[in-house]
Amino acid sequence: MIRKCLFPAAGYGTRFLPATKAVPKEMLPVLNKPLLQYGVEEALAANISNMAIVTGRGKRSIEDHFDNAFELETQLKNTPKEHYLKEITDVINNATFTYVRQKQMLGLGDAILSGEPLIGNESFAVILADDLCINEDTNVLSQMLKLYDKYQCSIVAVEEIPINESYKYGVINGKLIKNSNDQYLVNEMVEKPKPENSPGNLGIIGRYILTPDIFQILKQMQVNNKGELQITDALMQQAKIGKVIAYKFKGQRFDCGDIKGYVQATNYFAKSKGII
Ligand code: UTP
Repeated sequence: MIRKCLFPAAGYGTRFLPATKAVPKEMLPVLNKPLLQYGVEEALAANISNMAIVTGRGKRSIEDHFDNAFELETQLKNTPKEHYLKEITDVINNATFTYVRQKQMLGLGDAILSGEPLIGNESFAVILADDLCINEDTNVLSQMLKLYDKYQCSIVAVEEIPINESYKYGVINGKLIKNSNDQYLVNEMVEKPKPENSPGNLGIIGRYILTPDIFQILKQMQVNNKGELQITDALMQQAKIGKVIAYKFKGQRFDCGDIKGYVQATNYFAKSKGII
């Protein structure tokens, strides 16, 4: 059973400068809700209530957001504006939050390794909050938890990508599992390949289930030539020793780490709520 969800949220968010100079990328709102809250709500809807957040310098507003705001609550109590606080209050009441700081920005693999003290020796989910996912019924994480019950190994969510954008993704190659049309046994995984070197057109998005041996593998790895510890390299080792499943999830994902995806997500939510 998966009890904890890790949120790496220590990155610089350079593509969103100057907005991210003093505001964490994960706190940028789509409509009126910060990206990270969408992620936390997805985990809660998948029956995970323990949120482990990897933060860094300049990210204190994340902790404040998921905490009670006594003054504000007192001011709004018994006024017509009280309902504005309901959504975040529900999240705070239903989840617990633990935090750790990533000491140096050494990439996603290092951010995940920084989360080890919060996770311990158990399998866990990972959500990258800048990948905002939507579904008609079961959310992506819930879909992946069902697969974890079946396979008991690390699982990555993938989507079909235009091959000329392979350099933005970890790209997998795998063997379609018998009697399924959306599950692959991974045999190759390359981080941000050039289109001509890409092993396929299935790109990893920001949803993972990881078994805890990933920490040991990450500890033994060296940073790459960009000074980063890559989670794809660690997953590839898991695939070699045991197995890793890539899952073509049902739903749609917006890359909100990028201005274009962020605008698309905003338009989607504004339309679905009848605002525009
Ligand atoms: P990105 O690759 O989007 O990097 O990280 P970034 O720094 O956030 O954004 P850009 O590329 O500079 O615009 C993917 C996820 O991994 C986290 C980020 O916070 C984001 O959720 N991350 C990345 C860390 O927590 N630590 C790191 O060292 C790198």
